[in-house]
Amino acid sequence: MHSTVEKDKKTSYPKTMIDKITITRPDDWHLHLRDGDMLKGIMPETTRHFGRAIIMPNLIPPVITSNEARMYRDRILAARPVGSTFNPLMTLYLTDKTDPNDVSSAFADGLINAVKYYPAGATTNSESGVTNINNVMPVLEKMAEIGLTLCIHGEVTDPEIDIFDREAVFIDKVLNPLRLNLPELKTTSEHITTKDGVDYVKSQSKNHAASITTHHMMINRNHLLVGGIKPHYYCLPVVKREEHRLAIRDAATSGDSRFFLGTDSAPHLDPNKETGCGCAGCFTATNTMPLLAHVFDEDNKLKNLEKFTSFNGPKHYDLEPNQDTITLVKSDTASSFPEKIQTNDGPVTVFDPGHKVYWKVRDS
Ligand code: NCD
Ligand code: ZN
Repeated sequence: MHSTVEKDKKTSYPKTMIDKITITRPDDWHLHLRDGDMLKGIMPETTRHFGRAIIMPNLIPPVITSNEARMYRDRILAARPVGSTFNPLMTLYLTDKTDPNDVSSAFADGLINAVKYYPAGATTNSESGVTNINNVMPVLEKMAEIGLTLCIHGEVTDPEIDIFDREAVFIDKVLNPLRLNLPELKTTSEHITTKDGVDYVKSQSKNHAASITTHHMMINRNHLLVGGIKPHYYCLPVVKREEHRLAIRDAATSGDSRFFLGTDSAPHLDPNKETGCGCAGCFTATNTMPLLAHVFDEDNKLKNLEKFTSFNGPKHYDLEPNQDTITLVKSDTASSFPEKIQTNDGPVTVFDPGHKVYWKVRDS
């Protein structure tokens, strides 16, 4: 029998006496909403707590042109629960053939907030991504000129490079040369998973920031692999060794304005995760805010939670923070989250950190 992650792990928690915190409504600076029945089924999981989210364009086929982004945005708005004011911030999927003028007019129209760079083949639905950064320099130069952010999936795809080293090698081989070549381009290293990623952000004086996911702060590669493989802990970039988890957790909880939340909540149907060749992606939209309160509380950094979830992201993307608030409360009884979200496409398993959490978002 496969062992599961310890359910009642002893932690030093609860540490502080704080049992309630009100913060500016958070945003999610990296989110997969998908399309069709999946979109409809999982949308409320994000709109319940988040004001805005940067929407990933890796649909099948991907969202490449401004026209496709406009249509996708309409489908997202139509899928919002009644009364929701959630604002999807759209991105275009960068390809070798992207037209710089289409990108700049989409930005001028207020339709997009970023362009997404996937190295071809790096992750789920990235087959149409960039094959060589030199092919997209005209687009990147235009973006630098107009102040549009490039969101980067920072992993090399060279089959010779070990999967656990792909982020560090990308920094040396692609990201740093790009930043030296085009320092005016605003860049986001998305979902950083290593100390190398943290150190690189800290070494940059302007125009560069990083998003961090909830799950990468909570699990390392032992959680994924020891005692049986856990398909719902498999995502890309893959979780790393403990020292990297601690480095990104320190960065996230530090309050440093260059780090902010991007959940990378990435729903896949259970049969596509629990199989011989499972898809990458952790679905964390449902319980991200309680899990983050747990993490920041455990590290005695609750005072920095709002910076990470609600202030640092808007600052990087030249937006104002949301106007309203949410309240998180800690109680003596453990919070319960749904194990799965049932969509009309099928079930999606919600990320389970493997231990109890006492925080929850108070219903407004
Ligand atoms: C994402 C997905 O499923 O679309 N998967 C993941 O593991 N994060 C793609 C991505 O952002 O890499
Ligand atoms: Zn993603």
